Amino acid sequence: MKFLVIGNGGRESAIANTIKRFHEDATIYVAPGNGGTDEKFINVPIKVEALNELADFAAKENIDLTVVGPEVPLVMGIVDVFNGRGLKVFGPNKECAQFEGSKHFTKQFLMRNDIPTARYASFTRDSVEACVAECKNFSLPVVVKADGLAAGKGVLICETYEDAEAGIRDIFSGKFGEAGEMIVLEEFLKGTEASLLCFVDGESIVPMETARDYKRALDNDEGLNTGGMGGFSPNPIITAEVKKNIETQILEPIINGFEKENLKFKGVLFIGLMIDGNSPKVLEFNVRFGDPETQSVLPRLKTDLVKIMNACIEGELASTPIIWDEKQSVTLVLASKGYPESSHKGDVITGLETLDANTILCHAGTKRVEDTIQTDGGRVLAITRLADSLEEARAQIYAEVEKIKFDGMQYRTDIAK
Ligand code: AMP
Ligand code: GLY
Repeated sequence: MKFLVIGNGGRESAIANTIKRFHEDATIYVAPGNGGTDEKFINVPIKVEALNELADFAAKENIDLTVVGPEVPLVMGIVDVFNGRGLKVFGPNKECAQFEGSKHFTKQFLMRNDIPTARYASFTRDSVEACVAECKNFSLPVVVKADGLAAGKGVLICETYEDAEAGIRDIFSGKFGEAGEMIVLEEFLKGTEASLLCFVDGESIVPMETARDYKRALDNDEGLNTGGMGGFSPNPIITAEVKKNIETQILEPIINGFEKENLKFKGVLFIGLMIDGNSPKVLEFNVRFGDPETQSVLPRLKTDLVKIMNACIEGELASTPIIWDEKQSVTLVLASKGYPESSHKGDVITGLETLDANTILCHAGTKRVEDTIQTDGGRVLAITRLADSLEEARAQIYAEVEKIKFDGMQYRTDIAK
């Protein structure tokens, strides 16, 4: 079988590794890939935004299944392009990808379907003053969000109304382009975050094992927001009681809403949750696997991922049993010098060959240069271990990270603490 994985991050490394785990003989292409996928699979130098070129490649190589990692091509409509050419692809169509492409779209869906979420108000760019005035009707801190895709930089948690006003004017100034055409103001939710990735086949929604992501750059959740500095699975904040509430208050209304509104969502729906006591609320939807959640969750999957993705495409998820490993996982992200403010490249990475055979290595911002692996900016690597407890997996991860070296390497020391 031949697969094409689109993307170049740790998430795509984890997806390709998981396909390989169940299909040893598979040929796996990764576009554009990274230094690690270059060693283990076949990199294809096509950008994730080049939808037609990617479809041409899939057609020419007779790819059996294409898996789309990042949100940008999904929001651009890659699934419609592939489907239009009769190519099999895993991910939601353009209409459903709006759940990540527009926060306003998601908020409206949540409200229409009585799904618990933060109170909100939306404004377009021609109503700056109304937006500034309305933000004062929210208690502090108030959350100001650019509506569209802003690479994780479009969410501001404002402690004062002056900061909120400055944030609103900044977003509406056009710095995020189309993503800043609209602003969503939100009430601030207290609690603990959880990531719930779900398989969806248009008719049913099946949650994966739960996970937790660490968004801030520094220990104790200090520093700037990042793509995610580490994670673990399962997330103990999701107790049996919370799980039941998620099932009845969130998952059932989502799938009923999809049916009522004739939305044929197929792929992964990633639900960002805030849990306060036993009450879950939706923070956001993403329409793809999470990064680094995928690096924590997929190693625990004991059912063939390809079979599950095909079941999502064919509408056969309800009759596809999915089995998970009882073992728990911890993932640590190693980032490049200056991340997330700047992005240093070209530092030689050493020690990777000395890692224990049980350490799962996912390359992200790396490239192969002759016989070296070098940093290529951003999040560089993610390492994951499975163990009988989070404590054990955590101890193993922090022992393993000592073996890896590159100039300016940074990581959090409190993942899963
Ligand atoms: P989003 O991209 O909408 O998930 O926002 C990014 C991050 O901002 C979330 O993971 C939360 O940490 C934080 N956040 C977003 N919305 C809220 C909210 N209404 N209340 C509290 N924190 C929030
Ligand atoms: N880790 C958060 C995300 O993938 O969006």
